[in-house]
Amino acid sequence: MKENAIKKCINPKCGKTFNIISEAYSCSCNSLLDVIYLDKPEKELIEIFYSRRNHGGNIYNESGVWRFRDLINFLGIDTEDLNECAKILVSLDGAEGRLSKPYRMSKVADYVGLKQDCLLLQPEGYNPSGSFKDNGMSTAITHAKATGVHKIICASTGNTSASAAMYAANENMRCEVYIPKGEIAAGKLGQAFQFGAQVIQVNGNFDDALNQSLAKVNLQNGYTVNSVNPFRLEGQKTIVYRILENLDWNPPDWLVYPGGALGNTASCGKCLMELYDWGWIKKVPRLVIVNSTGANTFYELVNGEFEGQKLVWNGGNFNTNLLDRYYDFKDSNAILPKTRATAIQIGKPANIAKALRAIEFTDGIVAQVDDGEMSHGMAVVGLNGFDCEMASGAVPAGIKVLREREVIKNDDIVVGVLTGRQKDPALAVEYHTDPKNIFSRPPIV
Ligand code: F0G
Repeated sequence: MKENAIKKCINPKCGKTFNIISEAYSCSCNSLLDVIYLDKPEKELIEIFYSRRNHGGNIYNESGVWRFRDLINFLGIDTEDLNECAKILVSLDGAEGRLSKPYRMSKVADYVGLKQDCLLLQPEGYNPSGSFKDNGMSTAITHAKATGVHKIICASTGNTSASAAMYAANENMRCEVYIPKGEIAAGKLGQAFQFGAQVIQVNGNFDDALNQSLAKVNLQNGYTVNSVNPFRLEGQKTIVYRILENLDWNPPDWLVYPGGALGNTASCGKCLMELYDWGWIKKVPRLVIVNSTGANTFYELVNGEFEGQKLVWNGGNFNTNLLDRYYDFKDSNAILPKTRATAIQIGKPANIAKALRAIEFTDGIVAQVDDGEMSHGMAVVGLNGFDCEMASGAVPAGIKVLREREVIKNDDIVVGVLTGRQKDPALAVEYHTDPKNIFSRPPIV
């Protein structure tokens, strides 16, 4: 292994660097850290990534994450040495990212008002634990293992904890998950128990659970696998690599994600910044982040809905006072995030700074949709034979809103990420039992 990468504070005025093998996830100035690679990868790797799809039984080529290992090689391994891969890289038998690629979904395209060839949606719910989290968990646990960690900690609205618990079980690590009591889908809670995690039920919401879990991490030198961990975000970049590979590395016009803690937003932004910097892409797709109206911190701040001032990255010099006043306002008026899409029921997105950077770099947009719109989005994805949860339904719903406003044109190429699989089947049953819902097919009794 050679030193290939460092961790670096994202605040340009600070820029403090950290050894890659350290547990620090944030800087003494309170900013988060980026993983920075010391060398520029050669574009010829594109051919190698493609050839690895013919994996010949090798799990590091089969994995949709590790197939791109040369671009996330923060431990500086010899990526062609399969013994070294086997010793160091953590994989669920090559399953993470294996089934993920963008698909055309004609019924969704018709519903949102795009030409059928122009819309692609990439289901990440077919990952082993049922959500996009496995992309980043494989890299985070790889780093944890290299750091000699035996126990990982996270807070979660359900998918992170399922993924963390699954990987921990496979790596024989202990796992502690902080869950907002009564606020996560039963299917997700069941996974954490099933994979042997210690569940801590927090009386409060996700923001409280994250605070508690990070307090524990900081107090006991613990290892967090929440998306504040920069190695999580490295793995999540492969979501974008798979999209681009399927488009022959021609970037789409738009990339659309739901927004919760804004880990994906941050990861996608960093991924595009790197690809652009390396000269691998000439055009930067515009990011669309879709909040739930009930948990719309990012939407309100980016669009200037609070105090009439837009929160912008501004080269790293963003208005932290505005952010503090916003949170104070919410806290003092006891305004809590509330949406039935519990995966994204988050009031204080931990990656907001990196997400602002992503919006600035990509000339991105933050939209919002309500629970009804997300349910229709979830339902119409189902009619194309794909399964997604309500938070992922924010993607078609957000595209529809932006098509109606003509922000997105009907022949723009739009790629959306369906972040997770349905783990709350009662929601689907409820939707289809109500004849008033656009796509419902009520049962005959
Ligand atoms: N979609 C799903 C299905 C999620 O589980 C999450 C986040 C998001 C979207 C939002 O992604 O945080 O990167 O903006 N779930 C986290 C969890 C918070 O704990 O499982 P983000």
